[in-house]
Amino acid sequence: MSPFAVTRTLPADATAAALRSDVQRGLTATPKQLPPKWFYDARGSELFEEITRLPEYYPTRAEREILIDRATDIAAASSARTLVELGSGSSEKTRHLLDALTGLRTYAPVDVSESALTLAGRALLEERPGLTVHALVADFQHGLELPESPGPRLVAFLGGTLGNLLPAERAAFLGSVREFLSPGDALLLGTDLVKDEATLVAAYDDAAGVTAAFNKNVLSVLDRELGADFDPDAFDHVAVWDADHEWIEMRLRARTALTAKIPALDLAVTFAAGEELRTEISAKFRQETVRAELAAAGLSLRHWWTDAAGRFALSLAFPED
Ligand SMILES: C[S@@+](CC[C@H](N)C(=O)[O-])C[C@H]1O[C@@H](n2cnc3c(N)ncnc32)[C@H](O)[C@@H]1O
Repeated sequence: MSPFAVTRTLPADATAAALRSDVQRGLTATPKQLPPKWFYDARGSELFEEITRLPEYYPTRAEREILIDRATDIAAASSARTLVELGSGSSEKTRHLLDALTGLRTYAPVDVSESALTLAGRALLEERPGLTVHALVADFQHGLELPESPGPRLVAFLGGTLGNLLPAERAAFLGSVREFLSPGDALLLGTDLVKDEATLVAAYDDAAGVTAAFNKNVLSVLDRELGADFDPDAFDHVAVWDADHEWIEMRLRARTALTAKIPALDLAVTFAAGEELRTEISAKFRQETVRAELAAAGLSLRHWWTDAAGRFALSLAFPED
């Protein structure tokens, strides 16, 4: 195998069919909603990278701090020869793991964003010519199949992306991860932690408006892919803290009553003035809930590390016997 391969586990038309079905279901539901994976076309992936550098967006800096402090502990505890990363994006923080995992042979980043995988894979190969990078364009929530690669395997799921899944989706996802772990493999999980509302809301509603542009990008994806006529400027970006569920919700709020046509679905979607479309949840965690959700999937939490300010946590978990 060449040192850099990109594999699609889903045919392109399956992606298109999934988009059509998510949009049909989500925009005819009450309240309206869309899954966050559709943010991430090439522009959405770029905007997410910009978000990670914003002063208000602490999760990336906090997680990087833990990775810098703990990468050698993670390497010693996992002895990984393969690193699989789900929702890898730019793989930027992953470099701290790649440096520490001295026995590593294969890095397998998995993402729905082909542009992010290609950019990250090419950069990594230039930096690390000895590393085999096997990138997978795949949906980690649906029938994920990983390439054959030497164990032990470390599966990393960073960036707090677990929090973008609803509780039932998290349970299904963690169960599927457990299924592809053999004895000796491990899961490294990044979770953002519950904290004061002002800090959380600011992280999803920055002063420069980058998160607003990221949120509205999903409408541009629908316009391009489904021939829809959404005007992103007809919506306001909204970020609210739901204290009962302990999650942030990102929404798009219609400024006026409007109708958007989606010709690919033969659908017209009406919004009342002020009506909201939920585009993302970002759940925040506590140690007990992470431990319990892992345990319910047959995974045992062995290490829990936080940044010095206690904003974000990395967990290392192993399959239970
Ligand atoms: C919040 S970003 C985190 C990126 C990176 N891991 C980090 O920590 O900066 C979520 C990433 O997961 C990817 N993603 C979202 N939903 C996905 C899905 N269902 N399957 C595969 N990748 C997905 C996005 O394209 C994006 O790169």
